Parts: sequence; structure tokens; C-alpha cells
Amino acid sequence: MKILACNLKNKLTKEEVIGFQNLLEELPIGSTKLIIFPSFVYLSFFTSQKYELGSQDISSFNETTLTGDITADQLSSLNVKYVIIGHSERRKLKNEINIDFINKINHAQEKDLKIIYCIGETLEEKEKGNTYMVLEKQISEVLNNVEIKDIYIAYEPVWAIGTGRTPEKSEISETIDFIKDIVDENYEYSVKVLYGGSVSPENITELVKIKNLDGFLVGKSSLDVKNIEQMLNKMN
Ligand code: 13P
Repeated sequence: MKILACNLKNKLTKEEVIGFQNLLEELPIGSTKLIIFPSFVYLSFFTSQKYELGSQDISSFNETTLTGDITADQLSSLNVKYVIIGHSERRKLKNEINIDFINKINHAQEKDLKIIYCIGETLEEKEKGNTYMVLEKQISEVLNNVEIKDIYIAYEPVWAIGTGRTPEKSEISETIDFIKDIVDENYEYSVKVLYGGSVSPENITELVKIKNLDGFLVGKSSLDVKNIEQMLNKMN
């Protein structure tokens, strides 16, 4: 089953998210697994069985009292099943590093939350020909230090996020193979890999043809339920 994961980021006001949720309720989902990642403040609005619920982040700490943070217990109590960890926006703007991802994964796994671990190279790294080296490092430095269970990888080239640019299909496919091979070789784990970065109802027609891809992590396009409907149609 392919996955369509919708990362709503810090977008939508309360009224907008209610409208979004109502439209989603009427949507035929088909055979694709739809996962919605709203802002923390709206998680409790999403109660339908038609899709699964994910969180865009989680606290690094379980027991510590920490103003503003959200724990796995709290997320589980809202029926959250997935957590995004390692997103490039948080790597860059919140200075999150491997130890944060390791702590977050450990914490999330205590409540059996499934992990969507994001990796991806910057444009500079790509232009220097360092993509695979960067990806391998992002994978090994984190996965060497956590339990390998219920982990998905989202390959999101930083230069493709929010830019309207995507890699060639063949490039995505080769990179997915690379990621799957190293995870298989090093952890004997068959990881599912999503692609993210400027996925839209238009370009998904071609992107769905990538055989070794297990789904998509979509940002901007997923803010409009009509786009989600079109993307689901093309994936089903
Ligand atoms: P865009 O689809 O807006 O490029 O965002 C991708 C992303 O960051 C999903 O996590």
C-alpha cells in the first residue's frame, strides 16, 4: 500500500483547518494510506478513521517537565500514530542535530509511534557530488543509535522543498535504491521510503511511476483538499 503523507506545517487558521477537515471527511480515499500531520494545536480536530494522524514533532524528553513541549503520551492520547523527525526545516532553523533525532525517536518508540525520519542533501552538497555521502551519514549517525522498528525514511532534497523543483525520476529512483540498500545491509531492515519536495497533483502523474517508491510526503500542495483528492486518484 502506498502512502500519502500530508505535512500541513505551521499553516491554516482554526477556521481553515475546520473547513479542511470537513472536506477531507467526504473524500474517497481508495487503497492509499492517507496520513495527516496538522499543527499540534489542531491534532484533536482530526478524529476520523479514514486517515491516520501524525505529529510534526515530539519532545526529546519523556519524563522531564518542559514548558511548550509535547510528549509521546500526549500524542498517543490523541490517537497520533506517526511522528516526523529530522525535517530539514528543523535541522536548519531550529539547529536540531543527530542527538535530538535519536532522543526523539527513542521517546516516540516508547509509545510505539511510527517514525518518519527525513533526510536530504542541500543544493551545495548535491553540486559537490556529495549526495550519497550526506544521506549515508544522516542515516547511520541516527539509526546506529536507535531501535530499528517502525521507521520510514522520507527522502526530501532540501533544494526541492517549496521550490517547485524536483529531481529527475531516475535520480529519485537511484537514490531510493541507495537508501534501501544501506538500511538493508546495515540493519537487515527493509525500510519503506517516501519522496518529498514540491510534489503536486501535476508532477505526481510521473512520480507515481517510480517503482521502488513507497509514497510521498507533501507540504504546500496538501493544504488544499482538492489537491489531495487529485493526488490520491493518481496514486490509486
Ligand atoms: P513542499 O511539498 O511544500 O515542497 O514541502 C515538502 C516537505 O517539506 C514535506 O515535509
